[in-house]
Formats: sequence, structure tokens, C-alpha cells
Amino acid sequence: MEVGNGSRITEFILLGFKDVPELQMFLFALFSVFFLITLGGNFTIVILVITDPHLHIPMYFLLANLSFLDICYSNVTVPKLLVNFLSEKTTISFQGCITQLHFFHFFGSTEAMILCAMSYDRYVAICNPLRYPILMNTKVCILLALSSWVIGFLYSMVHTILTSRLPFCKYNTISNFYCDVKPLLKLACINTQFNERLLNIVTGFIALSAFSLVMISYYHISSSILKMHSINGREKAISTCASHLTVVCFYYETAICTYLRPTSEYFLEQDRISAIFVTVFTPALNPIIYTLRNKEVQSSLRRTIITKTNFC
Ligand SMILES: *[C@@H]1O[C@H](CO)[C@@H](O)[C@H](O)[C@H]1NC(C)=O
Repeated sequence: MEVGNGSRITEFILLGFKDVPELQMFLFALFSVFFLITLGGNFTIVILVITDPHLHIPMYFLLANLSFLDICYSNVTVPKLLVNFLSEKTTISFQGCITQLHFFHFFGSTEAMILCAMSYDRYVAICNPLRYPILMNTKVCILLALSSWVIGFLYSMVHTILTSRLPFCKYNTISNFYCDVKPLLKLACINTQFNERLLNIVTGFIALSAFSLVMISYYHISSSILKMHSINGREKAISTCASHLTVVCFYYETAICTYLRPTSEYFLEQDRISAIFVTVFTPALNPIIYTLRNKEVQSSLRRTIITKTNFC
């Protein structure tokens, strides 16, 4: 949609899924179900870790951070998406748009850092078990979690500040279902080459360094596992790491697909599909993977349910 010349844009239109009217009800139902799984599953994990002393170790503290982030992350985009399915008017104010963009990148990049911290935790536990109490105690764990949140915040501030300073004067229709940097760069009425390059460099640097750290940890972990003599220990190590690795691959794959492609090769449909994965499906994945595969989380859940029902 074109807005009059000279006037500044005060709101954007999120097209979302308006181009596929026949799928509206199906998508609304699908996304609602996944949103409920995300909320229910991740809240359960956070509450289990906080209340069950058996889970008071770094691995589960970090897992609770991941679940907490998943809740925040999906709340940035999904409620607005669901409301837009039901309403005719799908506008978002300029401030709303920048706020959404900020928290989307804040929670998203903090999650990348937490995944990195989790792989370091597993690396120390499996490759250096004797020094685990020194290398990964509560203090180190708090430091890792805290720095993840700080790095995530600083990283998102770069995008927030740069994007909020762009002038928008002509077009205001975003084909995606939430505000992100790339679609806004396309709408700005100045040359955004500098912003585009910065987006690719900063995001590329953060994503690739976090991903490489995770991969290096897992390289060492797998060579340690292969050298293990006890079958029991090997099985336990494989089981905890497999669930973590599944989450990591899913997460980085979608993030790298979305941001490392140059803006000139901007494929709308592909972007929208990876956006659905990042915002709707991935946050629901952690609780499913961790509770289905992880024996300690399962028995904690069982203990909690049994004590709760005994009280009644
Ligand atoms: C995140 O991790 C820190 C560090 O261990 C922990 O103290 C905190 O309780 C965790 N946050 C949540 C929401 O679980």
C-alpha cells in the first residue's frame, strides 16, 4: 500500500497469511495448538527445575533458562499472529513494530548463547568429569547465563537502534507476520546497504561463532564417548547429548537459513516457512525432546505429580 508523499509512516500492515484465505482456519488451529504446547511444556520444565532439588545442577538451570526464553520468544510473535487471523485490520504501530523486532532478536540471540553454554556444560561433564566441580560450579553457571542475557541484549540493541532511525515514507506493507529487520530495510526510503551489510556481518558473526563453539564441544564429546568403556556411561552420555544436539541443529539451521542469505536473494515464501519454524514450532520442541528422552526430567515429573496428588 502506498501512503501519501512526505508524510511519515506511523503504522505498518502485517500481511501474514492473508494471501491464503482457504488455509486461515487450519493455520489458526495448528498455531494455537503449538502455542499451547510451548506454554504448557516450557512452564512445566521451569517449575520442575525450580521446585525439584534433584534438578538443581547447571545442566537443568540452563535448560530452565532455555524454556523460559522459549516462552518469552513465542509470546513476542504468536499472540499477535493469532489475533491477526481473526481480525480484518492487521496493523501494528511503528513503536510496536520496533519493540517486537527488539524482543525477537533479544530472546532469539540469548537462546543461541544459552545453547552454547549448555554444550560447554556437557563438554566439561563428559570430557573432564574430575574437574567438573571447578569448571562448572553454580557461580560459573550464573556467570554463563547472565552473560548470555547481556550479549543477547546488546546484540538486539544494535538492530533496534539502527532500524528505528530509518525513515519510512512510502510503503508500509510487510509481507511477513511479524516485524523483522529485513522486511523493514526493504521498506525504508533511503539506501539501506550499510544496514544490510551490518545485519549480515553481526548476525553472521554471532550465529557462526556460537555454532562453531557448539560443534567443537560436540566433536570432543563424541570422541570421548567413543573411548568410553562402560556401556552404561556411554548410553547415558549419548542420551543427554542427543536431545541437546537435536535442539541445536533445529535452532541454528533455521536461524542461519533466515539471516545468512543475502537480502538480494530474498525469497518470500521460503522466509515465511522458516519464520514459522523459528517462531511457532521450535519453541514447542524443547519440552517434547527433553521430557520424552530425559529420564531425570521424567522421574521428576512423576515425583511432582505424585506429591501433588497426595496433598489433595
Ligand atoms: C537461569 O540460570 C541461572 C544460572 O544458573 C539460574 O540461577 C536461574 O534460576 C535460571 N533461570 C530460570 C528462569 O530458570
